[in-house]
Amino acid sequence: MEYLTIALTKGRLANKTMDLFEKAGFTCEEMKEEGTRKLIFTNEEQGLKFFLAKGPDVPTYVEYGAADLGVVGSDIIMEESRRAYEVLDLGFGKCRMCVCGPKEAAEKLRHHEMIRVASKYPAIAKEYFYNRKHQTVDIIKLGGSVELGPLVGLSDVIVDIVETGSTLRENGLEVLEEICPLSARLIVNQVSMQMQSERINDMITRIRRAL
Ligand code: PRP
Repeated sequence: MEYLTIALTKGRLANKTMDLFEKAGFTCEEMKEEGTRKLIFTNEEQGLKFFLAKGPDVPTYVEYGAADLGVVGSDIIMEESRRAYEVLDLGFGKCRMCVCGPKEAAEKLRHHEMIRVASKYPAIAKEYFYNRKHQTVDIIKLGGSVELGPLVGLSDVIVDIVETGSTLRENGLEVLEEICPLSARLIVNQVSMQMQSERINDMITRIRRAL
């Protein structure tokens, strides 16, 4: 049997995904090994192959067909704009994309001042400020720990994910504007969807039932 290949987002999302897949009847014992550094895992019986990738790369693997399916946050889907079908909201990994900063920055936002915005998500920040708010801003791309931006004077605000809000609180920042809610999504390669429609649709149906 040909493998169905599934790209998972390394870390917490992969664990939650495997819990859901198991409930839907798709297992991968190999992946449960404690402390393994392996990246690819198979279930020969079910003809499944899972691999662990960095979130931003998951839509890339799916677009190019290196994976038939992928599970990734909707933040990454929005940021990367890759070609793939988004077929299911998996309901976990829930958080919000927000504009955050010190309280004082709220005034600058309100008056549409030319501000600096630091983010790991420059495309989302651009779409929000330019297309939704019609506000010209200076967007600075960072790789992580974006909260540092306003704290060390690099930017006025940040565009970032807020889950519990504790990173903001512990660093004296707050949510100033909410851009959109986020959650994990199941995506499918467009060719695989046609060529393996029976297997993939069956998988989608079983996962939907397990939600
Ligand atoms: C994410 C995000 C925030 C934090 C939000 O960072 O960028 O910093 O989680 O979570 P909270 O609201 O529950 O505090 P992540 O841990 O992915 O690391 P990063 O800063 O390196 O991106």
